[in-house]
Amino acid sequence: MTIPEPVLRELRDIVGPAGYLDQPDEMEPYLADHRRLYRGATPLVLRPDSTEQVAAILALCNEHRIGVVPQGGNTGYCGGATPSADGSQLVLSLSRMKRIRALDALDYSMVAEAGCVLAQVRAAAEAADRLFPLNLGSAGSCQIGGNLSTNAGGTAVLRYGVMRELVLGVEVVLADGRVLDLLAPLRKNNAGYDLRDVFIGAEGTLGVITAASLKLFPRPRTVETALAALPGTEAAIELLARLRDASGDLVTSFELLPRVAVELALIHVPGTADPFDRPYPAYALIELASARIDPELRQVLERTLAQALEAGRVLDAALAASLAQREAFWRLRESIPKAQRRAGASLKHDVSVPVGALARFEREATAVALAICPGARIVSYGHVGDGSLHFNLSPSASLSAQALLAREEQVRRAVHDLVARYRGSFSAEHGIGQLKRDELARYADPVRLALMRSLKQALDPNGIMNPGKVL
Ligand code: MLT
Ligand code: ZN
Repeated sequence: MTIPEPVLRELRDIVGPAGYLDQPDEMEPYLADHRRLYRGATPLVLRPDSTEQVAAILALCNEHRIGVVPQGGNTGYCGGATPSADGSQLVLSLSRMKRIRALDALDYSMVAEAGCVLAQVRAAAEAADRLFPLNLGSAGSCQIGGNLSTNAGGTAVLRYGVMRELVLGVEVVLADGRVLDLLAPLRKNNAGYDLRDVFIGAEGTLGVITAASLKLFPRPRTVETALAALPGTEAAIELLARLRDASGDLVTSFELLPRVAVELALIHVPGTADPFDRPYPAYALIELASARIDPELRQVLERTLAQALEAGRVLDAALAASLAQREAFWRLRESIPKAQRRAGASLKHDVSVPVGALARFEREATAVALAICPGARIVSYGHVGDGSLHFNLSPSASLSAQALLAREEQVRRAVHDLVARYRGSFSAEHGIGQLKRDELARYADPVRLALMRSLKQALDPNGIMNPGKVL
């Protein structure tokens, strides 16, 4: 279906000359996803700059049954923000809605519009001597609206929770153009159903989030970072439990890096360095933070690592002695997705199981994957502090990218079946989009799926909101 020209004209009038793109070269960046798995087409990329404009767009699209694909920083991994290839859907970019509407340091809250880049939100909080704790590799380009719509995770979930837990309220434009204002920054409100959570993580299929009240926290004044060399994942989980205990739960990040991931980074990403003078099977990037000026924090970290070293659970350890060294540790961690991309094809599984079961799961998943893809490199890394693993496979000298890709479906089935046996998640943090829609249909509880469909029907009866995603 092509969108009639008079409707396109009305849409252009709603947003004005600065609010749309319709030339192929200008629209290009909005038409493919970050991983280049999908390519779409559209006659118009709309770039409204107010909630009222978004409301007018949706009311008109609802009337004419036109699909609308909300898009933030376009850094997603599942094709959730890419329009269909037939040109029948519009892209709605929130990137011009980037005002911080309010910040109340006393209330530890701020109201940010959907198009605010995550780094901008973090900087605004910091300028007010506060912390907005969500952090991810793409913080410099992902947007709050996308973080909300995908319920983003990242590297501080262990301490502060996922995006959902960092939100007090949202403003949403519904499919018919009505505005649902749930922005009041209340920490307690039991007056009826809590609708906020319905829209968080819905990937734009139920409405468009245009702004959010976000929770702020005291700004950390003491941060200690260490890299520990480990015999493996089991030891990592043990070490994490001890660190949480010894520090009084001040562990902010606990990221696992297997040696193979570090090697890929060393080969493919300039500016990364081997952290020790010999290789070790695995590493944990550990960060502890306190809102107080706390010289003891470093001692706690040192002492716990020393005890683990004695017990053989840690093989070596380095505490960051400077900001530059801390940044070097983080650079190594953040380089891994890029390194994997540069190493050629990658079969990605974004899974989670209870933290205590993680090491066993990883062992079994490795065996299952290698049985299907002998010779593959298992690049299993991630935010193990919250139970999630990016259980990825890369090609190797003995297994070509082509041979690896040919087995993608088989490996995915085996890994996700195993995840299901652990009652884990086949999408721990990257969402569903179009990539994992069939997985959701396959693994989700039928009652839950039926409820999701009822919700979709109730909130978007004409099916205009991000059609073809999630369900
Ligand atoms: C990460 O933790 O690095 C990201 O979620 C990306 C990835 O899966 O590669
Ligand atoms: Zn991740």
